[in-house]
Amino acid sequence: MRAGTGAVFDGAAANYDRARRQLVPLFDDFYGAAVGAIPYGREDEIRVLDLGAGTGLLSAMIARAFPRTRITLVDISPEMLGVARQRFVDEPARFELRVMDYAEEPLLGEYDAVVSALSIHHLDGDEKRELFRKVYGVLREGGVFINADQVLGETSETEARYREAWLRQVRERGVSEGDLSAALVRMREDKSSTLDEQRAWLEEAGFREVGCWYKDYSFAVYGGCKRD
Ligand SMILES: C[S@@+](CC[C@H](N)C(=O)[O-])C[C@H]1O[C@@H](n2cnc3c(N)ncnc32)[C@H](O)[C@@H]1O
Repeated sequence: MRAGTGAVFDGAAANYDRARRQLVPLFDDFYGAAVGAIPYGREDEIRVLDLGAGTGLLSAMIARAFPRTRITLVDISPEMLGVARQRFVDEPARFELRVMDYAEEPLLGEYDAVVSALSIHHLDGDEKRELFRKVYGVLREGGVFINADQVLGETSETEARYREAWLRQVRERGVSEGDLSAALVRMREDKSSTLDEQRAWLEEAGFREVGCWYKDYSFAVYGGCKRD
């Protein structure tokens, strides 16, 4: 199934960035909340791991906000990471790119922040739960996990409202029918879980200060801190 996710994003890589602002309503607020939740000073030399980094959109924002950070980008799709490689071509020492399935393979290294945007909802509940444990394992004491992702509505009515709101918002932003149908094909790989389920799995993995810092319909930024 995950081979399917990789193939879907391999096919999307060349055009992925173009329609992002239309397909992610309140794009600046959503990504801005994720970057703003990283609790370090601008000059700190932090190490960041970006899970499902894709073409490097979130990594690029973090790199701008924290100019001394070094970022490891992992993704199952070589084509998506190929676009990221071009994005960061002028600063190869700051960005390490790894093709891997973060659900199947161990996470390596030690990080001050593990981040992710719009990726972990491709895992089912058990896989998310296991991933949250692995993320906890690679964080330094005091480190944070920040996931900017889509969450499932708590009821089928809420989920239907999320879907209706998203369709209305993307159409208001003038998305083309081609970009919309490509997004709908990618969304067939989604296995979203509710925010409450994920909060519980984060706490179970050992995270403290589990919270949600942003929410707009299905788009949420949430996570926790590793602190004894
Ligand atoms: C919607 S894109 C988001 C990319 C980027 N984070 C952003 O915000 O634009 C989802 C990305 O997650 C990657 N992905 C999904 N499941 C993955 C897995 N198990 N391991 C690694 N990457 C995965 C896909 O290949 C894709 O590049």
